Amino acid sequence: MDTITAIRQRRTVRKFEQKPVSREVLAQIVDCARLAPQGANLQPMKYVAVNDPEQVRKINQMVRWAAYIAPAGNPQPHEQPAAYVALVVDTDIKKTGYDIDAGAAGATLILAAQALGLGSCWLGNIDRDDLSALLNLRPGYVLHTMVALGYPAESPAAFDEAGSIRYFKDASGRLHVPKRHLNDVLVYNRFE
Ligand SMILES: Cc1cc2nc3c(=O)[nH]c(=O)nc-3n(C[C@H](O)[C@H](O)[C@H](O)COP(=O)(O)O)c2cc1C
Repeated sequence: MDTITAIRQRRTVRKFEQKPVSREVLAQIVDCARLAPQGANLQPMKYVAVNDPEQVRKINQMVRWAAYIAPAGNPQPHEQPAAYVALVVDTDIKKTGYDIDAGAAGATLILAAQALGLGSCWLGNIDRDDLSALLNLRPGYVLHTMVALGYPAESPAAFDEAGSIRYFKDASGRLHVPKRHLNDVLVYNRFE
């Protein structure tokens, strides 16, 4: 899959096939994330790849889904993710200003997942203290965000927004994700 196709086709997925995601696939995805651009090339990011079913099941209890449409966006028991990657910052390497580094790493990670046929949901609404304990993060390691991963069991659609940026589900249960128009976000050379 070429890069433009991966970017255009990627939508956040919150329903997953109950099919394992191997360590090899997780390693490929993280191997791409670690190559993301990083301020001063400091690379403060660490990654915890989780595919142990029991550990995944515990994480499922510590994340929250699709606030605009809750609880309609929650994966049902037969739709839960098969894996997670925790984005962790080593604050011994970078103490502040690491959000952009984590963002670059996370964006790269979810696009790599897309290219490998996986769906993803980046998760910021998470129980950081409980997850940090579960993942056994050592002092100085800060849990930034989580990414849920799995083979997709839904295919949400993007469209040019028409008055609201709130995503919604249609009568068939398909998720629709409004994006701001190109003309509303792009100017050439300078704002008028
Ligand atoms: C930093 C960040 C945090 C997010 N946190 C959550 C979350 O806690 N729960 C959730 O269901 N989706 C979360 N999302 C997914 C967004 O809701 C989603 O990206 C947005 O609706 C646009 O949809 P799209 O990814 O398909 O373009 C998060 C996305 C980002 C980038």
